[in-house]
Parts: sequence; structure tokens; C-alpha cells
Amino acid sequence: MRLLHVVGTRPNFVKMAPVIAACRERFGAEANVVVHTGQHYDRAMSDVFFDELGVPVPDHMLGAGSGSHSEMTARVLERLEPVIREEAPDLVLVPGDVNSTLAAALCAARCGVGVGHVESGLRSRDRGMPEEINRIATDHLSAVCFLHSSEAIENLLAEGVPEERLSFVGNTMIDTLVALEERFRERGAARAAGVEPGSYLLVTLHRPALVDGPLLADAMSALAEVAAELPVVFPVHPRTRARMEGLGLSGRAGVHLSEPVGYLDFLSLEADAAAVLTDSGGIQEETTYLGVPCFTLRENTERPVTVRAGTNVLLGLDPARIAEIPHRLGSAPDKAEVPEKWDGEAARRIARILSDW
Ligand code: UD1
Ligand code: UDP
Repeated sequence: MRLLHVVGTRPNFVKMAPVIAACRERFGAEANVVVHTGQHYDRAMSDVFFDELGVPVPDHMLGAGSGSHSEMTARVLERLEPVIREEAPDLVLVPGDVNSTLAAALCAARCGVGVGHVESGLRSRDRGMPEEINRIATDHLSAVCFLHSSEAIENLLAEGVPEERLSFVGNTMIDTLVALEERFRERGAARAAGVEPGSYLLVTLHRPALVDGPLLADAMSALAEVAAELPVVFPVHPRTRARMEGLGLSGRAGVHLSEPVGYLDFLSLEADAAAVLTDSGGIQEETTYLGVPCFTLRENTERPVTVRAGTNVLLGLDPARIAEIPHRLGSAPDKAEVPEKWDGEAARRIARILSDW
């Protein structure tokens, strides 16, 4: 078995680190080729994850980041094709729902190589988000769909994906969390950020619907108000940073803005937060596993399992509702029920299935 793993963005590294490790263990290091598309390229968005999560140095760097969705997708297609031809893998593995994911899946399919999709079958039913298109297209291009929750089975069967392609393996992002839990628990990132454990709101916002328009200024004003009661720690995604700079927005009293932080510091901040405000996909899942209240500033989620677990509340795309957060904390559940197979073993299940494939 020869595998080609294609990663490109911050969440990709977190999802694929355990998969690459499990496949190296089962098939040997030389049977696993790692390609970095370069969709994310800042040290804080890329290298730090390779260092902390033990992802091997990529065998190929495509340098395909920045620009419009179409430009980025086209660059990955063009630059990945010779790599697939040279490496001749049996299967190309792609995670999640970013542009790199769809481009790599399409490229593999065009080269006649099978695709394995890690975190297959999520649906928000909102085609206004590029990620929904990326998920649907990647799932339908895939020979093997690795599912992280039972709702994904229903989603794919309803779209006519044949049952024999589906494998419910669990959540590889949680594998990474479980593997590094001792290390991030002793990290003490809250105090280093100037706040007390258990008494701050951790914030990440990066979706274009929120940060590329006027809602970003409203969100920053709402955060400044909340900070009077609950200090705010906000590591800022580069997309958001650029928009803030464009609008002349900066932190106010009690709002601690920083560069994006590494995985260990971020998980330490997440685990010790009173609550999290986000529009991230992965952070809705990590807070469910950790039992930390999460408020999602979106109209919908492709991860309703986190809402059913009781940790995640959809606030809608309405920054005014950020003001509710401090008052809702008393009613948060003590500990959520962790979804089935979010247990640290998902990547090993994937490697086992691949050895039979
Ligand atoms: C992408 C994904 C999104 C995912 C997010 C994770 C798509 C369509 N979007 O959004 O699903 O949730 O990653 O974080 O694939 N930039 C930098 N440095 C970097 C990376 C980006 O400065 O290391 C800036 C560039 O100006 C770039 C912009 O951010 O053009 C947006 O980056 P891009 O990868 O297109 O989208 P994200 O918003 O990061
Ligand atoms: N993350 C991180 N540092 C940060 C913000 C997030 O390490 O400053 C981690 C987070 O713990 C999760 C992943 O990055 O594992 C989520 O990435 P992101 O929110 O960018 O993408 P999404 O999940 O929305 O696609």
C-alpha cells in the first residue's frame, strides 16, 4: 500500500497528524508520501503544527496559497498532477473541506487514483459556503469515505453514495487532542495570556460571512462590552487580522488580541475557558469533547452532533447576541456526552481498514 496524504491548512494538520502516524506504523514510513499544498503558509498557521504534532516534513511543497478560490484550486490541480504521476500512490488521502481538499481529490480522480476522504459526510445544507461544495464534491469523488459521526452515514446514503464506500471510524481531530492532552493540560496558557483559568471567553472568528463585511466591527464592539464582565482572549486568524487592519479596528480594554497560537497553547486556552465563541468547525468538536460551553456565531453547522451533545449553541450570524454569553454560562451542562468513537482510536481504525482495502 502506497499512500499520498495531502494537507494544506491549519485544521488539516490537526486531522491528518494521527492518520499519517498510524499509516506509517502500519505500512512503513517510505510507503507514506506527504504533500503540503501551501494554502496556509505563515509559521503560526503551518510550521508550528508540524513541530508540535510530529507531522513529518512534507515530501512535496506546492506553494499554492492565496488568491481567489478558483486560482488556488487551479494551482493545486496543476502542481499536484506531476507529483501523483511521480509517486504513483494506490490512494490519495484528503481531510476535511478546504479548497486544497477538493483540488487534491479532483486531481487524483483525473489521474485515475482512488481517493480516501477523512471527515466525510458532514453537511450544513448551506451551499453559500465554499466548504459545503468542497465536502459534497470530495465525498462523491471518493472511493473510501471515513466518517466521524453517525449522522454522516445518513447524509451520504441520502445522496446515493453506495454503502460499501462508507466506514464509520470516528474523529481524528479528537485523536490528536487525546494524544496531547497531558502536554496541553500542563501548559498554563491562560496565565501567560494575562487571564485567570476558568474566567475568560476564548474567541476565534474567520468565516468570510462574518469577517469580510460590516459584521466584524459589530462583533468587536460586542466583545468590548462583554470584556467588562468576562475578559476576552482572541488569537486572530490572518484573514481577520487583514480585515481589522483595513477597518482600523483594534482591541479595547479587556480584549486580548494576539497572533494565532500553536496547538498546545490553543488547547490549553480552550480547556481552561469559561466559554468559547467561534465560527470554526473543529473548535465546535473540541469543546464538545472537553465539555466547555461553545457559542457558534453562524446560522447553521455541519456538526449538529455538537449541538445535540449540549455544549454547542448556535447564536446565528448576529454579533448583538454575543452580549448574552456571560448570562448563559450558569445553565451550561457539566459534561457533555462525547459522541460515539471520538475516543482517540479513529486513525488506527483508518489504517486497519486501508490494510484490507
Ligand atoms: C480556509 C478554509 C476554511 C477553514 C480555514 C481554516 C477554504 C475555502 N477555506 O479559510 O474552510 O475553516 O482555512 O483556518 O478553503 N493568509 C495568510 N497567511 C496564511 C494563510 C492565509 O496571510 O498562512 C491570508 C491570505 O491573505 C489569504 C487569506 O488569509 O488569502 C485567506 O486564506 P484562505 O486559505 O483562502 O482561507 P481561510 O480564510 O484561511
Ligand atoms: N487552533 C490553533 N490555534 C489557533 C486557533 C485554532 O491551534 O489560534 C486549532 C484548533 O484547536 C483546531 C483547529 O486549529 O484544532 C481549527 O482550525 P480552524 O478554526 O482554523 O479551522 P476550521 O476547523 O474552522 O476549518
